[in-house]
Amino acid sequence: MKTFYITTAIDYVNGSPHLGHAYEKVLTDVIARFRRMMGDDVYFLTGTDEHGQKIQQSARARGIEPQAFVDQIAPEFQEMCRRLEISNDDFIRTTEPRHKEVVCQLLQQLFDKGEIYKAEYQGYYSTRQEQFLQEKDRNEDGTWPEIFGEVSEITESNYFFKLGAYQQWLIDHIKANPDFIYPRYRAKQVLEFLSEPLNDLCISRPKERLAWGIPLPFDPDFVTYVWFDALTNYYSAVADKSDLWPASFHVIGKDILVPPHAVYWPIMLKACGLPTPQSILAHGWWSINGAKMSKSTGNFVEPIEFVDQFGVDALRYFLIREMSVG
Ligand code: ME8
Ligand code: MG
Repeated sequence: MKTFYITTAIDYVNGSPHLGHAYEKVLTDVIARFRRMMGDDVYFLTGTDEHGQKIQQSARARGIEPQAFVDQIAPEFQEMCRRLEISNDDFIRTTEPRHKEVVCQLLQQLFDKGEIYKAEYQGYYSTRQEQFLQEKDRNEDGTWPEIFGEVSEITESNYFFKLGAYQQWLIDHIKANPDFIYPRYRAKQVLEFLSEPLNDLCISRPKERLAWGIPLPFDPDFVTYVWFDALTNYYSAVADKSDLWPASFHVIGKDILVPPHAVYWPIMLKACGLPTPQSILAHGWWSINGAKMSKSTGNFVEPIEFVDQFGVDALRYFLIREMSVG
């Protein structure tokens, strides 16, 4: 029987962990513990996402180097897992050599196969979501939805991954695999996104604008786009354990389903000739006064204070009991 390989998203270390992060760890831990009790062999991965513009900006704001900054914050996430009694088997940080090596291998492989090309990019970018935007992402009144934070227009030479070539394959894959996305109704949201032509994905940033990333193996003047880097963690962490891939279950929040996990990730794997994950579970958000709890806005509560006050079991029970999954 194949090992049940389950993952959480890897958290950005641009600020301290909050209750939303705690929720995702506990939810994933409950599923992992349940599967172990049912007799499954379980492998549970979590970790931190440590590159990109958002991290570089946060480090600058504190006047320290990005590496020193992430080395300060990542242990807070590890400590949160310990205090929440999360039963993870491994904790991956994207600044670790074992991760960077695999990212470079996949990039080189795609470049050699002609799946990556260089061109000029002109468009909109959300640093808060580390995401390229399109006209269709705007509100009806022309403004950008609040979730994107500050949006800037950029023009620059970059490397692109031929995402568009796999659009029909992905549509067919989603339709043929009803267990690919949970809750099932969210598959509709993915198919809706795929009903418009899929643009190729810009997978690089010029080093002079963003230095904090993994240099492209075929052009050291550029660093890897943080989502290409981050998604690869699920594979890089187990690249030396060949029986674990593909992942059985990715647990993530609804804000990062479309497009990163439901579109970029399966296509990246397909293009690399690797099997795609079995299922992705997109959960909802913990909010305060109607707004998503978030590091970027400073609108959040600390989970560990609740552990101190009420005990870990009470907090875990509350998180799972009070939120209906999805
Ligand atoms: O998105 N309620 O990192 P992140 C519930 N690094 N879940 C929440 C939440 C809230 N208020 N706020 C955040 C990233 N989350 C990327 C992921 S994966 C290859 C890279 C969830 O720190 C969020 O939905 O912004 C995501 O699943 C996780 O916490 C990390 O969010
Ligand atoms: Mg976020």
